[in-house]
Amino acid sequence: MDSIPAISVDHLRVVRGDRIVLPELTCSVPPGRVTGLLGPSGSGKTTLMRAVVGVQRTSGGRITVLGEPAGSASLRHRVAYMTQAASVYKDISVRENVTYFARLVGAPRSRTDEVIDQVGLAAHARQLTGTLSGGQLSRVSLACALVGDPEMLVLDEPTVGQDPVLRRELWTDFRARAAAGTTILVSSHVMDEAARCDELLLLREGRLVAQDTPAGILAATGCEDFDAAFLALIEADQTAGAGA
Ligand SMILES: Nc1ncnc2c1ncn2[C@@H]1O[C@H](COP(=O)(O)OP(=O)(O)OP(=O)(O)O)[C@@H](O)[C@H]1O
Ligand SMILES: [Mg+2]
Repeated sequence: MDSIPAISVDHLRVVRGDRIVLPELTCSVPPGRVTGLLGPSGSGKTTLMRAVVGVQRTSGGRITVLGEPAGSASLRHRVAYMTQAASVYKDISVRENVTYFARLVGAPRSRTDEVIDQVGLAAHARQLTGTLSGGQLSRVSLACALVGDPEMLVLDEPTVGQDPVLRRELWTDFRARAAAGTTILVSSHVMDEAARCDELLLLREGRLVAQDTPAGILAATGCEDFDAAFLALIEADQTAGAGA
């Protein structure tokens, strides 16, 4: 990769409670691409994303985001983060939530209804957020992340609980944003979504097991689908760990 990474993670160490979640992680995310962050539950995906957006206490190493140290005030409007659990206000409407986030990032009012429509919630814009279904609630969070058209989107399992039609629409939107230059780091448990990424990072127990293109991952493992490829990589890593 000849371009400067949008995110550089250098020997990052994160301890949460009494657990070393990321012992010494080094990886990078290219600009203007969709990078998928995959790995078993508990492997450290959310922890890495929290560190990238600067809300995670770290105990060593360095993260540079768009040329600045992660968490810098200057990144606040350039990077949007959709957390794994929806972080929106339940006692106001969908539109009021998105309008509030639009104001925070200085987005024009017109963007509010555009992103509500993009996430398939036009018919629910006036509904009280607390009365939405789980999948709808998570799409309000996504709309709030998208509304400022940030240079970088960090999306923690944005398609969880969504039906196949919506997932396809959301991925079409992610792809279009990346084509327009947005850097996207997105975590997922849905293996067919791996194929829609430009680059994949596979974590296991806080360590990088693989960083490659989807085609590279399939070629390296000789597998035909990502379920099989990731299982093979995780098992090979487990075996190597046991032998060490
Ligand atoms: N405050 C904490 N104290 C102790 N351990 C923690 C704390 N927060 C997170 N952990 C542990 O850190 C590890 C990584 O958690 P993280 O949420 O980053 O995983 P993940 O890959 O996002 O998992 P999932 O796919 O389930 O979302 C887990 O083992 C989790 O139990
Ligand atoms: Mg997580």
